[in-house]
Amino acid sequence: MTTARDGEELTRVGAGTVMGALMRCYWMPALMSSELRPDGPPVRLMLLGERLIAFRDSAGKVGVMDHRCPHRCASLFLGRNEEGGLRCIYHGWKFDVEGNCMDMPSVPPPDFKQKVKAKAYRTIERAGVVWVYMGSASEAPPLPGFEILDLPEDEIRVSFIQRDCNYLQALEGEIDTSHFGFLHAGHVDADELAADEPLRYTVTDRAPRYHLREAPWGTQYAGYRPASAGGTYWRFANFLFPFWTQAPNGEFDSHMHARAWVPLDDTHTMYVFLFWKRAVSAMSLPQPAYKDGTPIGGTSRGNRLLPNSSDWLGRFRMEANAGNDWNIDREAQANGTIYSGIDGIHLQDQAITESMGPIVDHEWEHLAPSDQMITRTRRRLLLAARALRDTGAMPPGAEDASMYRGARSGYFVSDDAGDWQTVYANRLAEAVHAPAAMRAAE
Ligand code: FES
Ligand SMILES: [Fe+2]
Repeated sequence: MTTARDGEELTRVGAGTVMGALMRCYWMPALMSSELRPDGPPVRLMLLGERLIAFRDSAGKVGVMDHRCPHRCASLFLGRNEEGGLRCIYHGWKFDVEGNCMDMPSVPPPDFKQKVKAKAYRTIERAGVVWVYMGSASEAPPLPGFEILDLPEDEIRVSFIQRDCNYLQALEGEIDTSHFGFLHAGHVDADELAADEPLRYTVTDRAPRYHLREAPWGTQYAGYRPASAGGTYWRFANFLFPFWTQAPNGEFDSHMHARAWVPLDDTHTMYVFLFWKRAVSAMSLPQPAYKDGTPIGGTSRGNRLLPNSSDWLGRFRMEANAGNDWNIDREAQANGTIYSGIDGIHLQDQAITESMGPIVDHEWEHLAPSDQMITRTRRRLLLAARALRDTGAMPPGAEDASMYRGARSGYFVSDDAGDWQTVYANRLAEAVHAPAAMRAAE
């Protein structure tokens, strides 16, 4: 059971919180590189409850810093992005991407610009994403060693979508596997599916059995069901420190991807999805009906986003949200076209986790044996955060990023009779990996 105190420690991420301190041990994906152009306008960015601005200087370097000018705290969001730095429009002080004060024109000489520093964080760009390190270690940690990051940038698809709830409940939606046969596929009849469609096993047996373990990178589970010809249908998935998941709905052999649930503040999360373009993507649900010429009930009509605004929380928001009941279609729900009445897998997950409220009250829950992955993941996060606080022990992956290497998720059917970890290791050894994948693509 998750007590109120545990829940508090698990979900709060601001400065001075145990989980906030844990998150500050890692690089975090924060913006798309394309959001910032040289000498372009700064972007407001909320991260771990801090109000930041991001900009790209004339040389292409990215700065992410507290939005308050260290002079009189005017917002640098209003600043002029000029030759090599950002100039505050109040008294003209100018700062480079590292926060150094380059110019202090309102102060008669001698000025004291070498004594003033804007609070800037370290940044790096990889895979078309700006990553931010908000910790204070003199040497920044390594980037997480996901295999997807070994691929060249043009092989990686990146998407960002904001979710209006706490990062943990958004993340837990990904490791809650037994919902798939209901929320996403409750309207799907096994007879509608091709004989070799793995989803058949999900909709034939909606209460799968699980294996679960603590992995070097976090936690791992495998849902399993009997498959045809004596084989087993496996669905592996991972939670990886501090806020990453690897989902089971993709073909294991090519499923190089990673999904981050980055806490913007306690009640808003940015979903960042890095995905190999050539992976055999998530299985498709049959599309049984049309409405106004558009197929509904399936998986992939794209997520409609609102135009970005300059608000702190104005980037990559979905058009369907709590304010319009996620566009739930009661007719489709009643007539079985879409079990949930909500169209599209991502939106279904979004609606469900947002519907719990900004931060779920764990004392209201009644977790079942099928929720073990959630309880184990909470425990693992909580113990790591407390160990960092109490003994200074670094959490998994913060120093040794190579442990992410062994993590892969996805589904497959196998007649391997080994125990579940042997089945996993054998399948992983046969899977497509980054260097070979690129050679094959050439
Ligand atoms: S407040 Fe920014 S220069 Fe004065
Ligand atoms: Fe889901």
